[in-house]
Amino acid sequence: MTDEKKSATLNISGAEYELPILSPTAGPDVLDIRKLYGQAGVFTYDPGFTSTASCDSTITYIDGNKGELLHRGYPIDQLADKSHYLEVCFIVLYGDLPTAAELERFESTITRHTMLHEQMQYFFRGFRRDAHPMAIMVGVVGAMAAFYHDSTDINDERQREIASHRLIAKMPTIAAWAYKYSIGQPFVYPRNDLDYASNFLHMCFAVPAEEYQIDPILSRAMDRIFTLHADHEQNASTSTVRLASSSGANPFACIAAGIACLWGPAHGGANQACLEMLREIGSVENIPEAIRRAKDKDDPFRLMGFGHRVYKNFDPRAKVMKQSADEVLDLLGVENNPTLQVAKELEAAALVDDYFAEKKLFPNVDFYSGIILEAMGFPTSMFTPIFALSRTVGWVSQWKEQLADPQLKIGRPRQLYLGQTAREYVDIENR
Ligand code: SDX
Repeated sequence: MTDEKKSATLNISGAEYELPILSPTAGPDVLDIRKLYGQAGVFTYDPGFTSTASCDSTITYIDGNKGELLHRGYPIDQLADKSHYLEVCFIVLYGDLPTAAELERFESTITRHTMLHEQMQYFFRGFRRDAHPMAIMVGVVGAMAAFYHDSTDINDERQREIASHRLIAKMPTIAAWAYKYSIGQPFVYPRNDLDYASNFLHMCFAVPAEEYQIDPILSRAMDRIFTLHADHEQNASTSTVRLASSSGANPFACIAAGIACLWGPAHGGANQACLEMLREIGSVENIPEAIRRAKDKDDPFRLMGFGHRVYKNFDPRAKVMKQSADEVLDLLGVENNPTLQVAKELEAAALVDDYFAEKKLFPNVDFYSGIILEAMGFPTSMFTPIFALSRTVGWVSQWKEQLADPQLKIGRPRQLYLGQTAREYVDIENR
């Protein structure tokens, strides 16, 4: 924040209050209301936090009007094009590009944390086979606190780092095993000779009966999907992780809370909901009716994969994802995928529709990801778990950043109370 002292004057019933204005390195100024209630006896009111900064951060910056997304200052399209997921994890976690030696050490550390405690298999076996993999991930990640006691002390910096590494490393194994369990196939152990994305594909699609051939184009596309979902400022699930962490909860409990929040169709569950919507639309002839329904206030139907709280322009991740969709579907010889055709026609139709233009509803990160993942052989139920494993680095980085804040206080919002004022209890015989 710059040192220029700026402030705003608030006048309430003739009394004036000076509120400091804090200036960021990028983005809008911030009105500091931390002393407002103590000085003026009033709360601010902002359900959904559309105008509220919950913290300060140096990790990710989004300019919704420009369609810009930076991780520690590096634009997402450059990272998607030139970097790879574990290097992006290093950047998001530690703040800058690694040297070759730092990257090698980091990748080696993550690679050697990919196995799960052998007893954790029993958690998977306790679920019904048709359990949603997100239900399994929430349960298994929360249960990590029961197995990794040596990295639950949030006041120990080394334990915080080990917990971060364990979570980044083990999420692909947990997600892959949730998938294997749901299809009745044996768990496939991680391999240290494979890169992060190839290892995940191997754990998902290899079977003991034959050698699994990893296609470099598919593993590159998988790695890019991980990168595009790595972090995204104070979105709902990240804010959930921060709020859970503010009470001093252990890292595995905090990340399990983030996974639970991400599951919702308005957030990370949108990639599954979007593909189900595209399938429901079925053909390009049905697109006008879908757009009509999306505009009808009396119809709860929304175009999943469209719109965003922050982006009022194209989601830069959707642009990169669209390129990957073309590459992967072309490779797999399914460029005539009917779902992709509907997606492309729907996008074209929505972008010229006055309603969507007026409300600035553009395709978001979830619009194309489901199409790629389906083409790669994933069931829709695995889309959000893949989002969750990708976002783990963002969650743990924001969790670590908050714990390092000397001003950290437990998050405890107030409310606008509209209920009954105090009244006397009446015995039942007198009611
Ligand atoms: C993610 O926050 C993040 O950064 C999230 C994320 C991340 O990386 O962490 O980017 C990941 O969650 C992406 C968003 C995925 N969700 C979807 O694709 C679901 C469909 N989208 C909508 O549910 C909605 O756009 C949200 C939830 C994404 C944003 O909701 P907002 O900002 O609260 O906006 P809103 O719901 O108030 O909508 C504003 C207007 C409304 O109309 P009015 O009441 O003003 O008349 O736009 C309309 C809405 O009805 N609208 C839509 C629409 N999205 C918003 N109308 C039709 N279809 C849609 N998809």
